Amino acid sequence: MKRCVTKAVFPVAGLGTRFLPATKSIPKEILTLVDRPLIQYAIDEARAAGITEFIFVTSRGKSALEDYFDEAPVLEQTLARTGKTALLETLRATNMESGAIAYIRQRQALGLGHAVWCARKLIGDEPFAVILPDDVIAGETGCLKQMVDAYAETGGNMVAAMEVPQDKVSAYGVLDPAGEQGDVLRARGMVEKPAVGAAPSNLAVIGRYILTPAILRNLERMQPGAGGEVQLTDAIADEISAGGDVYGFRFRGTRFDCGSKAGFLQATIAFALARDDLRDELFDFIGDVISMRQAAQ
Ligand code: G1P
Repeated sequence: MKRCVTKAVFPVAGLGTRFLPATKSIPKEILTLVDRPLIQYAIDEARAAGITEFIFVTSRGKSALEDYFDEAPVLEQTLARTGKTALLETLRATNMESGAIAYIRQRQALGLGHAVWCARKLIGDEPFAVILPDDVIAGETGCLKQMVDAYAETGGNMVAAMEVPQDKVSAYGVLDPAGEQGDVLRARGMVEKPAVGAAPSNLAVIGRYILTPAILRNLERMQPGAGGEVQLTDAIADEISAGGDVYGFRFRGTRFDCGSKAGFLQATIAFALARDDLRDELFDFIGDVISMRQAAQ
């Protein structure tokens, strides 16, 4: 099995109910951190990891995503005519080459495992990455690039892993770690959204995966698991039971849970503070807010 990963699946079929009413008419993945949509962060991370084929698993109401990756001739002409070259470059960087991107519809919301399975024909018989755009990871080297490099050594299946507070484990897939070597640990089990007392560890799966086609075969016969949904975690756990290699990778970087409002706001502030054009003004504002809070106490 080759160890070079060129395809990535982006499950973007979710309804985004936590961001209603905004998500009534725009996909959650188009919500912006400063001025870039969530999906752009995911795409840029994938590109930096060497991904050349992008597979989106979508649902009804997600057409804004397709428009986003398309060329915008009128906008481009206007920017060119008015000499706004920097903006033009920013805009052009969002265009996706024809044939590099594919859209598959998940017709029923049956879970993350089912969403990935919907992409099976496009994935074919090779290893592939999965990126959950809700998990935004800031850092010097993209998380997927770090994983692709580690995977070149290990092969097998790999999931991004991070320690979370013990009382938060039931929001995640959780690893049962065995031996650990550097950033890589071997998993001897994996469980989706365990009860707090029943979790094998506090090592949570974060939304980056490198998977073998065996996982797709497992998904084929997967029964609904946690929350009544077909879980990707269960298909990976089955692979461990069948003797396959599954590794957790402790990535370097800060992860923001942009599926939650608090995480989304934290990411917005962090990314804004990282920008030269916004930092000073935002710091002043935050300083004022903190002073006002202290004065009121
Ligand atoms: C999904 C996965 C879970 C993983 C999490 C990371 O859950 O099912 O295993 O830990 O993403 O964000 P969700 O957040 O979609 O409920």
